[in-house]
Amino acid sequence: MDAADLGADLLEVLITAEQLQARVTELAAQIDADYADRELLLVGVLKGAVMVMADLARAMHLQVSMDWMAISSYGSGTTSSGVVRILKDLDVDISGKHVLVVEDIVDSGLTLSYLVNNLQSRDPASVQVCVLLRKHAAAAMPVHVAYTGFEIADKFVIGYGLDYAERYRNLPFIGTLAPAAYQGNRSDVQSRLVGVEAEHRARGFLGAAYVLVRASAVYRRYFASRTREEGIPRMGLLGRTALLPDGGGTRGSAGGTGPACRGR
Ligand code: IMP
Ligand code: MG
Repeated sequence: MDAADLGADLLEVLITAEQLQARVTELAAQIDADYADRELLLVGVLKGAVMVMADLARAMHLQVSMDWMAISSYGSGTTSSGVVRILKDLDVDISGKHVLVVEDIVDSGLTLSYLVNNLQSRDPASVQVCVLLRKHAAAAMPVHVAYTGFEIADKFVIGYGLDYAERYRNLPFIGTLAPAAYQGNRSDVQSRLVGVEAEHRARGFLGAAYVLVRASAVYRRYFASRTREEGIPRMGLLGRTALLPDGGGTRGSAGGTGPACRGR
């Protein structure tokens, strides 16, 4: 499936297939180095992590085993239902094993914090997390992520494993959908847009303009400083591919501050 197959349903491409492959290869090299002398079990979270798991595992040189869990925290809409359920558990016993959870995206952090706590209770040697995408908005549940592919804006994204109502998983890139693609589900995305418009009207044009100017200044300052500190590519925060540190998509130059080292 490609952009042309989506037609007008595609709003924008946030991360291209090439950028995804390059970044996943970098993550694989970091994980290879960090687990060089250990046996590693990759635990993919179905179904969203299928693509990143497949590409990550193939880009790694280490001997790894793979297992899968299915967890549900969302219905078919675009906002979290707040309910986490195990739909499929691991096939293997992880006691004494080094486990790396591979997930598509961390949004509220609810799914991963539940999952990590659950796995930790099974007496593994270690549990770490690798996510392809992390939404920059403060997570409701803090979760320690050792490896992050990209930080993205707080938008609903699809492609490369991520779905909207089970569609679009087989796109090779990460993108956003046009409002028309959400038709029949006004309850979430569209009604939120309508709500925002109404609020702006009520506050009056001057009030809204003031809030926008203030917010964009804070936004720019905050992300400019964070981007200097870490080496995680940030996509679509200030524009399509804005603020890529050190040549875009590559690891930050400050040795030891890359994703693999954060908090480890
Ligand atoms: P969290 O529990 O809110 O962190 O959400 C994690 C799960 O919600 C992910 O594993 C995804 O399956 C799904 N999810 C969160 N944000 C998005 C998105 O923008 N697009 C598609 N799925 C998403
Ligand atoms: Mg998922």
